[in-house]
Amino acid sequence: MDVLQELETRRQAARLGGGEKRIASQHSKGKLTARERIELLLDDGSFEEFDMFVAHRCTDFGMEKDRPAGDGVVTGWGTINGRLIYVFSQDFTVMGGSVSETHGQKICKIMDMAVQNGAPIIGINDSGGARIQEGVASLAAYGEVFQRNITASGVVPQISLIMGPTAGGAVYSPAMTDFIFMVKDSSYMFVTGPDVVKTVTNEQVTAEELGGAGTHTRKSSVADAAFENDVEAIAEVRRLVDFLPLHNREKPPVRPFFDDVNRAEESLDTLIPDNPNMPYDMKELITKLADEGDFYEIQEEFAKNILTGFIRLEGSTVGVVANQPMVLAGCLDIDASRKAARFVRFCDAFDIPLLTLVDVPGFLPGTSQEYGGVIKHGAKLLYAYGEATVPKVTVITRKAYGGAYVVMASKHLNGDFNYAWPTSEIAVMGAKGATEIIHRADLNDPEKLAKHTQDYEDRFANPFVAAEKGVIDEVIMPQSTRKRVCRAFASLRTKQVYIPWKKHDNIPL
Ligand code: HXC
Repeated sequence: MDVLQELETRRQAARLGGGEKRIASQHSKGKLTARERIELLLDDGSFEEFDMFVAHRCTDFGMEKDRPAGDGVVTGWGTINGRLIYVFSQDFTVMGGSVSETHGQKICKIMDMAVQNGAPIIGINDSGGARIQEGVASLAAYGEVFQRNITASGVVPQISLIMGPTAGGAVYSPAMTDFIFMVKDSSYMFVTGPDVVKTVTNEQVTAEELGGAGTHTRKSSVADAAFENDVEAIAEVRRLVDFLPLHNREKPPVRPFFDDVNRAEESLDTLIPDNPNMPYDMKELITKLADEGDFYEIQEEFAKNILTGFIRLEGSTVGVVANQPMVLAGCLDIDASRKAARFVRFCDAFDIPLLTLVDVPGFLPGTSQEYGGVIKHGAKLLYAYGEATVPKVTVITRKAYGGAYVVMASKHLNGDFNYAWPTSEIAVMGAKGATEIIHRADLNDPEKLAKHTQDYEDRFANPFVAAEKGVIDEVIMPQSTRKRVCRAFASLRTKQVYIPWKKHDNIPL
């Protein structure tokens, strides 16, 4: 009986982490504890813990006198809506959640199990970084985690929740995961903190400005979304997991749907304004196509000229990439290309079909784009689409000009179904620009120029030239888009593609 009691006593001590005082301090910052976060993340009662009694082995700086059970990280597995998940959650109440050799080993253990058993890894980060007292042993622990992030990439989804400090080299583990979510005002990520920045560059900046959720969702694009508090962030991760397959050999999950596949959306027939220079909201099209109007947007705050995210069609997950005419007229630029390329590659790695909605007047011109390497960054998106072998269905709603037409999952990049609305214009460029180049001699004759422009529009401001050439498979009624797209994806469920052997590709980075 005593041994049973001892187990219970030890468990209770481990569950207390760094003790009541530090838990209260954690709560006073608006943060949940490591265990409270896991409880919210996983289905009730599903969490099974590993390594609850692991303690560090450091004997320097008097550390042998303080060996808390669990060593600053809670690890284990459980379920989200019944589906297997591995999780680690750093406990800031224990030595600031700092990473020791044994702390790292605990994380590695569950990462190895996740890869072996084919289930996502969710990492909850709240840590002062490398355990200073352990020196290189702590750095080595990070290195071991990094290597596992790389091995797991493209095998199981990896999701990071940043819920406290994440500084120095510690940022590189989340950086290599598929999705990063941050909490506003209580989390930050940077390679060098405000003090070092001040010393080296003389810039004065707060931790929040340097690496807070706002910075990383709007400016750097390091993070995919920012939430008000821990509870909201965790709820959104649960929602995301529902869209994802557990591993790369599993089809995306299919769940019951209550939305008619044949639902006609007559309002789409008038979505495109008569004036080709007027914007409209592409999100309206996405939500009208999706089952129950549910769109899970990724990187909503960054490069708003392109939309990326997940919807379901006939209950099955589909990744959506769509130009947004409301911002920069939907042009592709460096940021949009990078954002969409990474999303396309995630979908392809995990067998999630891609729906591309196109209204793109071209690449954004300018020195800042050229100097910033738009050639290489634009090539990322082109490359990502071209190498993707998942089912690809594309709908052109309006403009599809120039190189951007080719990039946006065109027929030429092995698009499976390429549809166009009757309002489509598929051409090398807009009528005005085109006329000014091919009729340069008439530049000073407005009447002639207007006539040439009209001729060009008559010829190309429609989808039929492309349809005659077979690079558009069908011109469809906007109101029937949901039905057409659902049927297209249904027909592609058994798609197989032959790819010549290569060790790996060399996407322009
Ligand atoms: C050991 C640490 C620690 C660390 C915090 N603690 N960071 N212990 N190693 N890295 C301990 C503190 O001593 C304290 O212990 C408790 O955690 C809480 O820390 P506080 O400082 O009281 O908390 P707060 O005021 O909220 O400040 C949090 C903090 C600060 C900003 C994270 O603790 C801090 O600056 N820590 C050092 C950060 C750092 O330089 N880390 C190394 C980065 S380089 P008590 O007993 O008082 O509760 C790195 C390299 C990774 O990580 C390389 C990978 C390749």
